[in-house]
Amino acid sequence: MASCTNAIDKEVSIRDILMKIYPVTCIKVADLGCASGPNAFFPTCKVIETITRIYQQEHWESPELQVLLNDLPITTSMPYLHMFLLSMTGSS
Ligand SMILES: C[S@@+](CC[C@H](N)C(=O)[O-])C[C@H]1O[C@@H](n2cnc3c(N)ncnc32)[C@H](O)[C@@H]1O
Repeated sequence: MASCTNAIDKEVSIRDILMKIYPVTCIKVADLGCASGPNAFFPTCKVIETITRIYQQEHWESPELQVLLNDLPITTSMPYLHMFLLSMTGSS
């Protein structure tokens, strides 16, 4: 029950924010210190799901959604994502 109430509280908070900032063309969701593994994506996915659901309920035109995953640029923290990004940019 506690986690259910907590989830409802978070949805209410996100709805409150969206009501204040609407209309916007782009919403950025940032996880500062995301690491890697399930915790890197799960909370961000839940926020995106909640934003998308609220926009549908309100019949609002969907904004552009940007996800910013941030962590220290060291290979022990997020090796796979870091190596992938380096390969995409051609950096060493
Ligand atoms: C306790 S871990 C939490 C990781 C993840 N958010 C989670 O909940 O599992 C803290 C993370 O913050 C990162 N971090 C620490 N200082 C940072 C900084 N100055 N800039 C970006 N990331 C940082 C670390 O590399 C580490 O991945």
